[in-house]
Amino acid sequence: MPEITLIGTGGLGQTLVRALSEVNIPIKSIFNRTVDKARDIAVEYGILTHGKQPDNIGQLGNLIFITVTDRAIEEVAQQLSRLSGDFNDYTIVHCSGNESAELLHPLRVKGASVASFHPLQTFTEQSDAKAFQDIYFSLQGDKTVFPLLENIAQKLGAQTLEVTADQKSNLHAAAVMASNYLNTLLEAAIDTASLSGLSPERAKEALLPLVATTLRNIGEQSFENALTGPIKRGDIETVKRHIELLRGQPELMTIYQTLGKRTVALAKRSQKIDSPTAQTLLEVLA
Ligand SMILES: NC(=O)c1ccc[n+]([C@@H]2O[C@H](COP(=O)([O-])OP(=O)(O)OC[C@H]3O[C@@H](n4cnc5c(N)ncnc54)[C@H](OP(=O)(O)O)[C@@H]3O)[C@@H](O)[C@H]2O)c1
Repeated sequence: MPEITLIGTGGLGQTLVRALSEVNIPIKSIFNRTVDKARDIAVEYGILTHGKQPDNIGQLGNLIFITVTDRAIEEVAQQLSRLSGDFNDYTIVHCSGNESAELLHPLRVKGASVASFHPLQTFTEQSDAKAFQDIYFSLQGDKTVFPLLENIAQKLGAQTLEVTADQKSNLHAAAVMASNYLNTLLEAAIDTASLSGLSPERAKEALLPLVATTLRNIGEQSFENALTGPIKRGDIETVKRHIELLRGQPELMTIYQTLGKRTVALAKRSQKIDSPTAQTLLEVLA
């Protein structure tokens, strides 16, 4: 196992420390712009070296995770590249979903192998060490380091998915839709349920089991088969009524219409509605 250095102790950085410690992967040093956070973590996990930023290569483990915000990755890479010595025996990764390993080019020039190692998961500073279990890390960059990163992922209970820089950008856009926008969609659904006075808390309680079953069904069957509801049943009158209810709510209406049109296409692919019904539904949703 390599020795690890972590630079950046935000949501992901802190969760990684917890998870790496739990599986006994040694952390040699930890750095953070707000040095108190690095110090507290170093004390809690018995990490011998901490600071604001490393001032010599000797402080670094041979696998370095740059877990600062995307905007700061290049700056941190530049800082590291200014340390004297070469990085021939070092692997340096960042964990951004959006950026490619090219952001670490200054370190590659100094001999490092570089990659992006992006966990498809959501983390806060309170996340549990188990947050990596059963998730995927996308891997992009120097292929020579993939076996090492696959090994780390495996120790954390995760799997890896090799991607090109372009595939990585698409996967990130997809992750935003699947996670962040699902969150927003549910918030909009609860807003819709509350329009006639139902309390948002009760609406949330009532809708969450439905969401959980929907996710389970999607995991077990195709999207076409997992789909249920008025559009799949060709129930034009119900869709018309929903459109009437949302008049005066332009944002909720746009969400309902946009996703409704996509749902018509899915229902048609499932062969549960015929072309004339699909056409009428699209007109109602226009
Ligand atoms: N959180 C997630 O759900 C998640 C999921 C997948 C991937 N990621 C990736 O993980 C990385 C970290 O994200 P995060 O959510 O953990 O961020 P975060 O919780 O917002 O923490 C940001 C970290 O970056 C440091 N930082 C910010 N600006 C800096 C600068 N100019 N110079 C040096 N350090 C700076 C902060 O230091 P201070 O403590 O001093 O503010 C803090 O340690 C990003 O690349 C992100 O794309 C995050």
